[in-house]
Amino acid sequence: MKNFISVHDVADIDSLVQKAIAYKADPMKDKALGENKRIGLLFLNPSLRTRLSTQIAAQNLGMEAIVFNMDKDGWKLEFEDGVVMDGTSVEHIKDAAPIMGAYFDILCIRTFPLLLNREDDYNEVLVRQLMKYSGIPIVSLESSTLHPLQSLTDVITISELFKEKRKPKVVLTWAPHIKPIPQCVANSFAQWMNAWGSVDLTITHPEGYELDSQFTDGATIEHDQQKALEDADFVYVKNWSSFTDYGKMLPDNEKWMLTLDKLKVSNDAKVMHCLPVRRNVELSDEVLDSANSLVNLQGANRVWAAQAVLSEILNGAN
Ligand code: CP
Repeated sequence: MKNFISVHDVADIDSLVQKAIAYKADPMKDKALGENKRIGLLFLNPSLRTRLSTQIAAQNLGMEAIVFNMDKDGWKLEFEDGVVMDGTSVEHIKDAAPIMGAYFDILCIRTFPLLLNREDDYNEVLVRQLMKYSGIPIVSLESSTLHPLQSLTDVITISELFKEKRKPKVVLTWAPHIKPIPQCVANSFAQWMNAWGSVDLTITHPEGYELDSQFTDGATIEHDQQKALEDADFVYVKNWSSFTDYGKMLPDNEKWMLTLDKLKVSNDAKVMHCLPVRRNVELSDEVLDSANSLVNLQGANRVWAAQAVLSEILNGAN
């Protein structure tokens, strides 16, 4: 593996999942793989799980991990080519990226969409510029449009729990929120479920919250949440802002919060959420605190997803 930006960087999802599960059973088995290698984790916005799990994963592989809060401690970066830098930007990515490429063996980046201009966000300029100018493997810790480490974790979690011969019914349901949230987790979850092909995916959301079809093609779209939840084995809860009316929150959808009552029609569904979660806005306390909630398992599995990816990149680089 050269980079980890989306599911398209993965040759075989099932073997990557097996690799992660093997690390879960024996975290230190490849302690020598990353010896004398250094990984940089650049953050342009907050994180709990991604930051800690990726550091732990790197350390399990013997790597030195350095975290850099680029938004707070770094110079303000410019990304546009040929621009006259007489404004607030201090350093061009063309100058910063090769330096970081010299300091590190792998560079990880978490960025965030501004949700102002869809084309700008969906062009993923920061990730693409880092890939172009750093000269070393790049791992996405969540980009403007995708969250591949989270999605790999979600595949691992479903794979670990569902042992029946048939495909599980997986429902991605939109949930309310108090502010506009990117489409990254939902895009990425749909992309990975479709590419994996081992589940039947239904996506349910209010009218106006259609996701980009490049990620959802192959899934069933159902605007009646209760109908979508029928016979579900796994329910993934997530808010996202509008893709069509870009970055906007549409009114009157509070009733979409997931409750235990709504889940009665499911197949005793396990409930997933990437966290952080707004309790009693996105889903109720009673769901989150129930035995069917997988949120803690998902959070713990983030380590094994990151370790499998870093291991693949280290093996590819050797
Ligand atoms: N799920 C997730 O990426 O969590 P953090 O934002 O805390 O890293």
